[in-house]
Amino acid sequence: MPPLLCISLAVSAEQPPAPLSEPPPPMTVQTCFPCHGPAGVSRRSAIPSLAGLPRVYLLKVLRAYRHGGRFGTVMGRLLQHASDEELSVMADYFSRRKSEIPKQRFKWDLVSKGRKLHRIYCRNCHGDLHQAPDIGTPRLNGIWMDYLRWTLQDYMVGVNQADDDMSKALVWVIRRHGDTGLEALVNYYGSARPDSAGVP
Ligand code: HEC
Ligand code: HEC
Repeated sequence: MPPLLCISLAVSAEQPPAPLSEPPPPMTVQTCFPCHGPAGVSRRSAIPSLAGLPRVYLLKVLRAYRHGGRFGTVMGRLLQHASDEELSVMADYFSRRKSEIPKQRFKWDLVSKGRKLHRIYCRNCHGDLHQAPDIGTPRLNGIWMDYLRWTLQDYMVGVNQADDDMSKALVWVIRRHGDTGLEALVNYYGSARPDSAGVP
């Protein structure tokens, strides 16, 4: 064996094994990155993050966009020809990514009212820090506030078809607390700190 090769072998033997690199994301999900951010962490307040959402929820939502049960400015058109297998790859990939909570500007004076309303009307299904939500229901803490406002409107006017009880909960909030009630909820969810798992 030539001496040079000997040296390089000896050196490589002393190095720790290289960490197993993750395989590149499947092509099917790479098309989502320009809008939803790399690995599904969105940097834009109008577009929701997908990282860490429950797989069952993601699959339900993707199917709903495909058949028109959920309103989307872009998602319906984007998924209309997607196969079940492709939707499954998307749900698998994004549910396994680590979620990140963005830092947002919110109104402090609305947060405690929002927390109260959340506990009365929304916590049973959506959970909070100490209570995992049902697998078909998304956690709302740390969601982008602009997206939240729009999507709540879509549930209220009925173009997003949710659980009947969820639509009722929203109607009660509006009847009893008006738009301020909704804004309080939005500000409460938006008050989650980036370094925490959610809001207290
Ligand atoms: C052109 C930008 C764009 C692209 C590309 C895109 N999305 Fe979206 N996505 C949106 C927007 C905007 C919304 C909010 C609903 C709407 O208006 O369509 C959304 C909403 C969603 C939601 C709902 C999230 C929630 O919290 O309920 C899911 C799931 C989703 N997209 C998955 C995907 C997947 C998977 C891909 C890749 C195949 C993808 N999106 C590609 C813009 C995009
Ligand atoms: C009876 C259970 C239930 C209650 C009560 C409920 N929700 Fe929901 N919520 C759901 C389910 C299930 C979904 C998923 C719906 C779907 O598939 O589109 C959902 C979806 C949502 C979404 C969409 C999230 C996203 O990322 O697009 C928002 C926002 C939301 N709920 C807010 C609320 C608020 C605010 C309250 C309280 C006023 C509330 N919900 C009460 C069950 C509930």
